[in-house]
Amino acid sequence: MHTHDLFPASATFFFIVIALSTLVQFPVPSVHAAEDEQYLNCSETFSCAGISGLGYPLWGSPNRSEYCGHPAFELNCSGDAPQLNVADMFYRVLEINGAAAARSLRIARLDYWNTTCPATYDNTTTDSSTLFSRTTAATTNLTLYYHCPIISISPLLPQPADGFSFTCAGDAKGFTNYYSSSSTASTINSLLGLCENNVNVPVSTEAVSNLTTEDALKEAIDGGFTVGWNANNSLCDRCNGSGGQCGFNISTNAFACLCKTGSFPETCGSDGKYPFR
Ligand SMILES: *[C@@H]1O[C@H](CO)[C@@H](O)[C@H](O)[C@H]1NC(C)=O
Ligand SMILES: *[C@@H]1O[C@H](CO)[C@@H](O)[C@H](O)[C@H]1NC(C)=O
Ligand SMILES: *[C@@H]1O[C@H](CO)[C@@H](O)[C@H](O)[C@H]1NC(C)=O
Ligand SMILES: *[C@@H]1O[C@H](CO)[C@@H](O)[C@H](O)[C@H]1NC(C)=O
Ligand SMILES: *[C@@H]1O[C@H](CO)[C@@H](O)[C@H](O)[C@H]1NC(C)=O
Ligand SMILES: *[C@@H]1O[C@H](CO)[C@@H](O)[C@H](O)[C@H]1NC(C)=O
Ligand SMILES: *[C@@H]1O[C@H](CO)[C@@H](O)[C@H](O)[C@H]1NC(C)=O
Ligand SMILES: *[C@@H]1O[C@H](CO)[C@@H](O)[C@H](O)[C@H]1NC(C)=O
Ligand SMILES: *[C@@H]1O[C@H](CO)[C@@H](O)[C@H](O)[C@H]1NC(C)=O
Ligand SMILES: *[C@@H]1O[C@H](CO)[C@@H](O)[C@H](O)[C@H]1NC(C)=O
Repeated sequence: MHTHDLFPASATFFFIVIALSTLVQFPVPSVHAAEDEQYLNCSETFSCAGISGLGYPLWGSPNRSEYCGHPAFELNCSGDAPQLNVADMFYRVLEINGAAAARSLRIARLDYWNTTCPATYDNTTTDSSTLFSRTTAATTNLTLYYHCPIISISPLLPQPADGFSFTCAGDAKGFTNYYSSSSTASTINSLLGLCENNVNVPVSTEAVSNLTTEDALKEAIDGGFTVGWNANNSLCDRCNGSGGQCGFNISTNAFACLCKTGSFPETCGSDGKYPFR
């Protein structure tokens, strides 16, 4: 009885040994395997802090490897919304539109989240980065003025269309803070020149019509503003058109087109520079 069982078992063992030695003698080229893995890994969309369906140029631990994105577009996914750092300032990412016609993010300043009185005063940094561009009509520059002598607006002067006050916990006696969305409200603006600090905070133009209360001001700022991204967009289109996934070569610090057959500088197969001809 036992010999009947033993014979097939040893035959199976024999075949496994043959199969293993075949693999050892003819291993799949490791470059091939790694490249394919990158292509496959970047082919899926990913989720970050409650936003799903994300792709290039965004990436971030733990769901997306760096080589699937552009280095400037790393998201911090550990909070209740993705966070993005642009030129040393943190932004909450509220919405991401990866469609070719949009390629945009709606972001809100983290230091202004649910407050109009941040610990330090800094201008919005997206304008100083070439990676982002603003659609001017949809966005309005709001200026927040801090530590201003209290202005009593005379009924004889034209009333400002906007430019109301808001309070901060540390306001000194006789001082307050104002906001204005208009760069030409001359009466109030000349008085606002007396304020100690002013900060540019973009908001969506739709939100501006309603800025009549301090809560509305907070809401408008927390609603964020939209910026388009410039992350080798045209290279990415060409790569995608050739069947590749847009990505990044960390060792050359340049765009990479990740393809089924490996990684290329621009498009799948056509440039033949590396790693195959
Ligand atoms: C990673 O992806 C999974 C599955 O889509 C998702 O449930 C999870 O929240 C994501 N992790 C983060 C930190 O966003
Ligand atoms: C594929 O992506 C996941 C999620 O980012 C990562 O944990 C894994 O290491 C990646 N695989 C390779 C081969 O890079
Ligand atoms: C990432 O976000 C979490 C939650 O908001 C925060 O505590 C952490 O400091 C952030 N990490 C970095 C590197 O900014
Ligand atoms: C916003 O701030 C106020 C007070 O500053 C606080 O009572 C409230 O809980 C905060 N809301 C959120 C959503 O953080
Ligand atoms: C912000 O920029 C304006 C000019 O655009 C400048 O007057 C102001 O001092 C800047 N504010 C800060 C806090 O750097
Ligand atoms: C808003 O401010 C930025 C930077 O100061 C400037 O580049 C942009 O043209 C301004 N937009 C409008 C509509 O004034
Ligand atoms: C303006 O505020 C009112 C009342 O708070 C609200 O009903 C309305 O939807 C707001 N309009 C816009 C454009 O935000
Ligand atoms: C890709 O984008 C980076 C910055 O985002 C830029 O420095 C580089 O020149 C771009 N490469 C090409 C080929 O356009
Ligand atoms: C890449 O091309 C496919 C169709 O070929 C399209 O569905 C997809 O949206 C494109 N991706 C990007 C990021 O443009
Ligand atoms: C990065 O580029 C170098 C130089 O062209 C190439 O040898 C390497 O295979 C590329 N690596 C990846 C992961 O694409």
